[in-house]
Amino acid sequence: MSLKIRLLFIGIVLSLSLNSLAQKPNSPLSKPDMTWWQEARFGMFIHWGVYSIPGRGEWLMYQEHVPFKEYALLADQFNPKNFNPKAWVAKAKEAGMKYVVLTTRHHDGFCLFDSKVSDFTAPKTGAKRDLIREFADACHEAGMRMGFYYSLTDWHFPGVLPQGYPVSKPTMKLLVDQAHAQVRELLSNYGKVDILWFDGLSPNDPVGWRSKELLAMARQLQPEIIINDRSGIPGDFGTPENSVTAQDRPWESCFCMNRTWGYAPYDRNYKPVDELLRLLVSCTSQKGNFLLNVSPDGEGTLPREQLENLENIGKWMKRNGKGIYGAGPSPIAASNLGMASRVKDKVYLFIQRWPGSTVPIAWVGSKVKSACVLATGQMARIEQKGDRVWLHDLPELPPDTYLNVIELTFEGVPKPSEPAYR
Ligand code: GLC
Repeated sequence: MSLKIRLLFIGIVLSLSLNSLAQKPNSPLSKPDMTWWQEARFGMFIHWGVYSIPGRGEWLMYQEHVPFKEYALLADQFNPKNFNPKAWVAKAKEAGMKYVVLTTRHHDGFCLFDSKVSDFTAPKTGAKRDLIREFADACHEAGMRMGFYYSLTDWHFPGVLPQGYPVSKPTMKLLVDQAHAQVRELLSNYGKVDILWFDGLSPNDPVGWRSKELLAMARQLQPEIIINDRSGIPGDFGTPENSVTAQDRPWESCFCMNRTWGYAPYDRNYKPVDELLRLLVSCTSQKGNFLLNVSPDGEGTLPREQLENLENIGKWMKRNGKGIYGAGPSPIAASNLGMASRVKDKVYLFIQRWPGSTVPIAWVGSKVKSACVLATGQMARIEQKGDRVWLHDLPELPPDTYLNVIELTFEGVPKPSEPAYR
């Protein structure tokens, strides 16, 4: 065989084996189908654990440097008598959310699930119940997509709490073995899990955590699972935190409703509904998802402010959700009136500054057939000249309580003008 042919042969074998590696469901490189997730656009994040009892946020153990012996008393007190995951899932559904991600274990190491490799768990302390079992059942029963948040680090291990310092080799081994065993438990014992949401890669050492192996195991146990990027390898989606930062891959911005993830009744910095909706639209119109956090108290009750926000979001979503689900960037801009998204042949204008009975848009390159105010169903009279369009006969005052949405239907594909608005 000549050298050329030999090289060609090696090349073919290499690319075939790389290809099959990439496609094997248990390869950390394989890509799950993300269609449902990208259509969903809106999910609920829930931060809940024994830190929810004192109500000073989920970093309490670290921030107040609480020795484990003292912190463990919280687990004995944990008796979440109002925990009703069916109600949480129903609230998420009502708000128009399509998936729910719950902290099965946060950095403090306390597991809401039953684990053979830890005693610091809900079934073995005060609650005496596998809370993840009840949560999983509630999601499955309601047809709600379910995500498990899992923090890799575990402050309840001696020597781990001073975050950012090197962890001794033997401790690291204990941590890593525990994490692998618990991810296996979570993905084996609770039926279908749709999302695995890692966090807490501390120390920041994906090789040490054997993250590739962890992902391979996850994909083998749950072949359709979608995994985030916080295990030290890119996974399936990016996770900007408390900021809308578009990425050129699937991404999801997670946001607190106030400024704390875990229950914190004295954090009064709630974002109003119009701000939450603006964030949702800002994500979806840039092809991203919005994961909005709630923080039940130690008994499992959702704070009143959060429930109210969810209800109001839900009402708006009922009227305007068509512009959110499955949406991506629009070729037509709403300029300084607000934002715009596109779903197939429709463009949705999310108007923040209602301009009165005529809504002007410009830089439009194809014919607008109809325009409808989603809140009221009212159709506008359309005038179109060159690249300019006027939507007439609309109400003088904004018809919706929050962002006002107008659905534009185009003849064929919506196109921007040439040159387009930038
Ligand atoms: C951060 C925080 C954590 C929170 C998470 C949510 O990593 O440490 O408390 O759970 O972000 O994205």
